Amino acid sequence: MEFILDTADLEAIKDLDRLLTVAGVTTNPSIISSTGMDPETVIGNLVDYLSPEQKLFVQTVQTSVDGILEEARWISQLRPKNMYVKIPVTHEGLEAIKQARNEGMHVLATAIYSPDTAFLAALNGADYLAPYVNRMCNYGDGVQQVIDLQRMLDAQHVPTKIVAASFKNADQVRRLIAAGIQAVTVPPAVAYTMIGHPGVQIAVDEFTAAWQKAYGRTTLRA
Ligand code: G3P
Repeated sequence: MEFILDTADLEAIKDLDRLLTVAGVTTNPSIISSTGMDPETVIGNLVDYLSPEQKLFVQTVQTSVDGILEEARWISQLRPKNMYVKIPVTHEGLEAIKQARNEGMHVLATAIYSPDTAFLAALNGADYLAPYVNRMCNYGDGVQQVIDLQRMLDAQHVPTKIVAASFKNADQVRRLIAAGIQAVTVPPAVAYTMIGHPGVQIAVDEFTAAWQKAYGRTTLRA
C-alpha cells in the first residue's frame, strides 16, 4: 500500500517524510501554481529532494493530444525511474494516455469523476487511476464509487492501481484503506490530521506526571 503526499510544499514534504513512510508526491497545475514559484523550480526541487525509490507525479497542462504528449515526454525524462505523467481523462487525454503508454511512459490517469471513465483509461494502459474522491462526493458516495472501481479492476484482472485523490478528511482515507485500496494521495493537512489526535499527548503527559510523582524524575533510569 502506498501513502503519497498530494502537495508541492517542500517543507511539509520534508517534515512528513521524516515522520512517515512516504511513497511519493503527486502534483497538479493548481498545486504547483499555489507555491507562487516558477514551475521549473518547484519540479526541480522535488526531483532533487525525493529518493530514487519515491515516485513523482507531474501533470501535463496543454489540452491537445500533441501538446499533452510533448509535455509528457519532457516530464518522463526528468528522472531515470519512478517518474509518472499525470494526464486528465478528457477525450484528448484518453488518446494521449494510449499513445504515451505505447511510447513506454509511466502514466497516471487523473481528474477522474466516474468508475466508467477510470476503467476505460485502465484499458488504455494507465499505470494508475486517480479518482477525485471528495469531488465525487458532490454527486453521490465518492468513497463507494472508488470501491466499485476497485471491484471492476479486480473482476476483470486489470492490473492498473488506484491512487485515490482529492481527500478532505481522514475518514475518507480510512474507509478506502480499509476497503483495500492500493494507494492514496493526501494533502499535508489530512496527513497531519491522521497523526494528530490530541489524546496521544494527553496520555503521554499523564505518564510523565505519574513517573515524576513516584520517582521524582522524567527518565526511565536514574
Ligand atoms: O491531485 C489533486 C487532486 O487530489 C484534487 O484535489 O483538493 O483539488 O479536489 P482537490
